[in-house]
Amino acid sequence: MSNFCPIKRFDHLEFYVGNAKQAALFYSKGFGFTNTAYRGLETGYRKATSYVMEQGDICLVLSTGLSPDHEIAQSVLQHGDAIAVIALEVADAASAYRESTARGAVGAIPPTEEEDESGVFRYCAIHAYGDTLIKFVERSNYTGSFAPGFEPRQASQSNGVGLKAIDHLVANVELGAMNRWAQFFSDTMGFDLLVHFDEQTISTDYSALKSKVMQDSTGKIKLPINEPAQGKGKSQIEEYLEYNCGPGIQHVAYATNNIIETVSQLRASGIEFLRIPKTYYHNLEKRVGKIDEPIEKLAELGILVDRDQDGYLLQIFTQPVEDRPTLFFEVIERHGSQSFGEGNFKDLFEAIEREQAQRGNL
Ligand code: FE2
Repeated sequence: MSNFCPIKRFDHLEFYVGNAKQAALFYSKGFGFTNTAYRGLETGYRKATSYVMEQGDICLVLSTGLSPDHEIAQSVLQHGDAIAVIALEVADAASAYRESTARGAVGAIPPTEEEDESGVFRYCAIHAYGDTLIKFVERSNYTGSFAPGFEPRQASQSNGVGLKAIDHLVANVELGAMNRWAQFFSDTMGFDLLVHFDEQTISTDYSALKSKVMQDSTGKIKLPINEPAQGKGKSQIEEYLEYNCGPGIQHVAYATNNIIETVSQLRASGIEFLRIPKTYYHNLEKRVGKIDEPIEKLAELGILVDRDQDGYLLQIFTQPVEDRPTLFFEVIERHGSQSFGEGNFKDLFEAIEREQAQRGNL
């Protein structure tokens, strides 16, 4: 039943941005990505520019529209720089489109084929939350650089800052919409509910929220969906919805095998993280048990720890990476634990609320 829309992997995330040239420098100097392919005026494409940025198995595409009426420029006007497209690799894009739309997904781009000397590249897309698209990409018959029309740039030779893969991708949706979108992933793509958090699990005075984590049949694609819950003031989800002008991607979690090394490099290149009070580290070992990493080092870098029955995890969250308090990133290192750091939710949300208060949005 759940095999009607098999997903191979995250193919890429496409960001619609105001200035892809500058964003490419931010993701390369700040986050260790390499620009591996490019499409724009110089390659004969007149409408937009796109920079393909790679690190480990992660691929980001940064795109800017070259005229005010281009859909990318329109999206940036509305949402600011944001993740507009979640691209998933499939074996058969036309089948993914047929199966998902037959089950209620709304089509955005019908099955499309592009061909050059490197083979055939197929894709299509359906609408998800807000203005976000889910794009199905079929690249098994294509050997070229990213997609037809793109020219290769630098080969991705360095290991960057050690980011390996997309661990999970979180969306914020409107009050009352979480169940509808969880059902959407279940109905149209055969995803299952992995875990459900309610406002009792995730609650401070302000930041009550509910979350359902949907995952595909392989467990490789994890998509948590948050909605705000009734609290005393404006929750972090409401702040996001206001500044993003609607639902969208809140954060991307990148997996690393060495979070201490990764975060040290990110901090050295100027990436800012949420500030966690030093008191978090008092009695940490009592709360989470024995871990391999030195607690003093984690405290120095602001890395959080959580444990469940399967093991432990280390995680950290950046400040928003746009001027609008919308998108941010997480870096996560898993030692057995497959959860999301529930034990840290309270400390984390209090840290977010301190920043929200500084922005005058609490
Ligand atoms: Fe996360």
